[in-house]
Amino acid sequence: MRVLTYLLTGGAGFIGSHLTDALLDRGDTVVVLDDLSTGDRGNLARAWPQRGLRFVRGSVLDARLVDELTGRCDVVVHLAAAVGTRLAARPLESFTAGVRGTETVVGAALRHGRRLLLASTSEIYGKNGAGPLAETDDRILGQTTVARWSHSTAKAVDEILALGHHHEHGLPVTVARLFNTAGPRQTPRSGAVVPTFAAQALAGQPLTVHGDGTQRRCLAHVADVVDALLLLLDHPGAVGEVVNVGCGEPTAVADLAGLVVERAGSPSPLRFVPHERGAPGDEDPIRVPDTRKLRALTGWQPRRTLDDLVDAALADAAARTAATSLATPLVAPAGV
Ligand SMILES: NC(=O)c1ccc[n+]([C@@H]2O[C@H](COP(=O)([O-])OP(=O)(O)OC[C@H]3O[C@@H](n4cnc5c(N)ncnc54)[C@H](O)[C@@H]3O)[C@@H](O)[C@H]2O)c1
Repeated sequence: MRVLTYLLTGGAGFIGSHLTDALLDRGDTVVVLDDLSTGDRGNLARAWPQRGLRFVRGSVLDARLVDELTGRCDVVVHLAAAVGTRLAARPLESFTAGVRGTETVVGAALRHGRRLLLASTSEIYGKNGAGPLAETDDRILGQTTVARWSHSTAKAVDEILALGHHHEHGLPVTVARLFNTAGPRQTPRSGAVVPTFAAQALAGQPLTVHGDGTQRRCLAHVADVVDALLLLLDHPGAVGEVVNVGCGEPTAVADLAGLVVERAGSPSPLRFVPHERGAPGDEDPIRVPDTRKLRALTGWQPRRTLDDLVDAALADAAARTAATSLATPLVAPAGV
């Protein structure tokens, strides 16, 4: 197969760095464009020694840079976005930068005639938790004053821009709606539940479970998500399509916490704390992806179990703790 060059916006982030590894492993070339706002060069540690990686620190808001890099690549994967706590802290910036960044990337892909994959989100479906959610299901949103619904709306505008340019100008784009994804390189800073539980279990601290812990989550292993993204990128039938990507097995958050403690062999108890009104998780519906479209189109099957996911997250959290303690002397040098 011809070696292709992929431009990955947000390629130093959690999902982007795993996609970078997978593309390099199969012999392709990758240009990462990342402003390192939530990403980390360290996420590319495995990729650095391989030939074929170029890292550019910059923003998708820099239209000239995006245009130049797009012109040099064959395929563009747009993952850059404000996520997690950054999103909640700065909703206005996240909204405007998200939409403008996508407009810039879509415009450059169109000008250069490049294949584009846009990372969207299950937040698109909002409060619709009626059952397994198919790509044709409705969006049910709360008030515009709540950050998560403005994020959902920004991603919807992203999708509308991408699909509109497909229908009206022939842009070869696929929209991948990602559901909750977890695994190595996702940090507790993101506010995500798995790395938070993993760090707490390894530190012997109580695992903080919001509410009564019966709220359920569908968590996909990042390696399965990357497999799906590669299949979509390679499949001509995915052009012009919106496709859900995620795992369909719901797990109660308290059960997840119990599993993390068990796999870590940790003495940590679970600590149940009330939801703060309006906080993430407060009114979370159970969002189960219907992945029949992805499976029918590409033959994708998730290959990792929840145990695999938790073990990988624990190993990653342990490695981070070891790296931090090596960098921080336990005893202050004499005279300090
Ligand atoms: N992780 C999940 O569970 C999940 C679920 C649904 C959708 N997604 C989507 O997948 C994508 C990747 O998410 P992630 O979990 O890897 O998050 P992440 O924060 O680890 O990755 C986002 C990356 O984008 C970079 N970035 C942000 N703004 C930028 C800008 N203006 N210019 C250049 N780079 C910028 C960040 O530094 C970071 O490296 C996002 O679009 C997110 O909305 C993720």
